[in-house]
Amino acid sequence: MTRYETILKSFEEMEVFAATIAQLVTAPCYIALQGDLGAGKTTFARGFLQALGYKGNVKSPTYTILEPYQIDSLTVNHFDLYRMSDPDELELIGAHEMFSENCINLIEWPEQGEGWLPTMDLWIEITHLKQGRHVCVKASSVKGEKILQSLQK
Ligand SMILES: Nc1ncnc2c1ncn2[C@@H]1O[C@H](COP(=O)(O)OP(=O)(O)OP(=O)(O)O)[C@@H](O)[C@H]1O
Ligand SMILES: [Mg+2]
Repeated sequence: MTRYETILKSFEEMEVFAATIAQLVTAPCYIALQGDLGAGKTTFARGFLQALGYKGNVKSPTYTILEPYQIDSLTVNHFDLYRMSDPDELELIGAHEMFSENCINLIEWPEQGEGWLPTMDLWIEITHLKQGRHVCVKASSVKGEKILQSLQK
């Protein structure tokens, strides 16, 4: 199987979908979130974090580029590279140290970090529909393939 596709009619369904993925993922993991402005990438990140037990606010890291969340021994790094003009900025904010073994990384606008980011495990592409969103999940690692297979069940 090369991809998993679904339609999510509301932001609540997006959060449920993110929770499903969150239950299948183990660190280290890299998940690219692709889609236009307002597609629902941050909504996905919020649902993902809440499913792992994070109780606080999940805001868009548009201005900070990176927001790390500590959930027990797990760190979830939420990146938004939209405003990044140069991948060296990732180095400046110490992002490389963030890519450690016990981290799950959710990356909005991964195109902006091309050539710098590690290989992604999953690519989640969100597109606007008249009502709701179409979501397409692809894998680009063995780990990603396993998650994709579990999604299908
Ligand atoms: N499946 C969905 N159906 C309808 N609305 C949705 C869905 N998913 C998210 N939304 C809504 O879309 C809006 C934008 O979502 P969000 O901020 O997550 O987008 P984003 O992709 O992170 O945008 P940006 O590129 O600006 O960071 C929110 O109001 C959210 O509730
Ligand atoms: Mg966002």
